[in-house]
Parts: sequence; C-alpha cells; structure tokens
Amino acid sequence: MPSLRLGSIAPDFEADTTAGPIKFHDWIGNSWAVLFSHPGDFTPVCTTELGEVARRAPDFEKRNVKVIGISANGLEEHHKWVKDINEFGSKVGPTDVQFPIIADEDRKISTLYDMLDEQDATNRDAKGLPFTIRTVFVIDPKKVIRLTLSYPASTGRNFDEIIRVIDSLQLGDKHRVTTPVNWKKGDDVIVHPTVSNDEAKTLFPEFTQHYAYLRTTPLKVE
Ligand code: BEZ
Repeated sequence: MPSLRLGSIAPDFEADTTAGPIKFHDWIGNSWAVLFSHPGDFTPVCTTELGEVARRAPDFEKRNVKVIGISANGLEEHHKWVKDINEFGSKVGPTDVQFPIIADEDRKISTLYDMLDEQDATNRDAKGLPFTIRTVFVIDPKKVIRLTLSYPASTGRNFDEIIRVIDSLQLGDKHRVTTPVNWKKGDDVIVHPTVSNDEAKTLFPEFTQHYAYLRTTPLKVE
C-alpha cells in the first residue's frame, strides 16, 4: 500500500478501544479527528502527553475535534495505565482521560498507518519489535488527512502546535487565506495567492499589499 500523504483518505478500520469498539470513519462522523500514536503504555514521555491531551479536551471540543490515541498494547494495560496518567496528571491540573485509546496489540492499525519504524533503533520493545512511533494524523470531516507528524521517542509533542495547525486549517477552509510563520488565532493572515486584487478589495477591504505575491489582512472571525 502506498504511504499515507496529505490529501489521502485516512484508512478506515475497526478496533477495540478503552471506550468500546469503534469503526473509525463512523466514530469521526462530522467532526475533525486527531489520531496520535505513542510508543507504549507505562512509558514516561507518553504518560505526560496523554495527560496533557486529557486536560486540553475543552480546546479540542470547541473546535469540533475528536481525539483518539493508539499504542501496541492491550485494553487491560491501557485501563491500568490511564489510572497512572490521571494520577500523575493531577500534579499539573485536573486530569481525566476520556478520549478512547485503541488497543493495537497485533499492530494491525499501526501497520495500516505506517506508525512502525523498523529503522529507529531507539524505539524497540524488549523483544526487539518496533514500538509505534509518535505520529499525529489530523483528519477532516471528509476523512482526508490534513497533517502528519512524526516525533522521536525521546521528545514529547507540543499540543499547542497541533491545535494551532487545526485553527489554521479550519480558517483556511472557511476563508481564502493562509497563515504566516508563528501565526496564532487572531493574528493577521495572508490573502490566498489565488485571490486577485479585485476580489481581495471585496473580501478583505483592509488588506495590505507588501509585494505582488504577499498580501496580509486582519480577519474578523466569530
Ligand atoms: C517514553 O514515552 O518515555 C519513551 C517511550 C519509548 C522509548 C523512549 C521513551
């Protein structure tokens, strides 16, 4: 199977999760989704990541994003580990993992999503089998993959950045704009190169032309 790229349809699958069995596309429904893998249960960096994702639940919810984790462990281990995540997470703030975690003991879904990296010698279990790497897939309601990320086992992800990209993607889907370096919600945006200056005068009356190819504008959004 060719590797998954931006623009690919996220493969559908059935799985057991900590919140019960799911069929992935049905579970996504009309929401956006973040599917994120982590090397394994009871590992330190992952414990901090899953706690953070739980605490950010309102941020995902208000953007219509469902979050789902996956690692190559079974349901029983997942449930035990969630207790640790909630306990450790409470040192930072109230932490209650409600999002599902897929039990992918046979690595079927990890293989489908190319989440196993046989090349990475730092990321193997005691038997030498590859753990899932730290990947992120942001998937839109049409089930199209809009972002992929792979992080090393040693480095926890930055969920502010993942939410920032979701904000940018959702804004770009609604308005003919792109977002500049280090953009945050509320900052000026870039008028999409396919918008002519005549269209821009109507769509973005306050736009500024810096060069023929670089036009910025404030954008009032709800
Ligand atoms: C961790 O989550 O801490 C981790 C997992 C696998 C390899 C190295 C670190």
